[in-house]
Amino acid sequence: MKSIVPSIVAAGILFSGSALATEMPELAIKMYCTACHTIDKKLLGPTWQDVANKYKGDAGAAAALQVKISKGGSGNWGSLAMPAIDTEGTKQAEIKELVDFILKLAN
Ligand code: HEC
Repeated sequence: MKSIVPSIVAAGILFSGSALATEMPELAIKMYCTACHTIDKKLLGPTWQDVANKYKGDAGAAAALQVKISKGGSGNWGSLAMPAIDTEGTKQAEIKELVDFILKLAN
């Protein structure tokens, strides 16, 4: 019996490692999205998991979210506003990459 204990402990460590939630991408950290968003805990903004689930199956969502992130706005999740991230239109590629990442979280 004694020899089984270490392997159970090891399995536990492995399991908790693999159970870690998806992490925020580098780009989201670099663009300060993480100040208000996480994948699964509500901060000032909605969790990206909730955003993905809300727009699941909505063919126009990617384009709409890209505009929303670029220009900011409120009303879809409450009265707090999402700040405009790209009023000059110079970060569209980065924003598109983040929208793709977010929408793929849907379950
Ligand atoms: C200062 C806080 C703040 C920062 C920084 C921020 N957000 Fe938000 N975000 C919000 C709030 C608040 C909302 C809810 C807006 C609403 O109710 O319509 C939101 C909503 C969203 C939504 C859902 C939009 C909708 O209409 O459903 C997405 C997607 C999103 N943010 C992505 C991002 C990305 C990507 C970044 C980084 C480039 C970012 N946010 C940075 C506060 C923030």
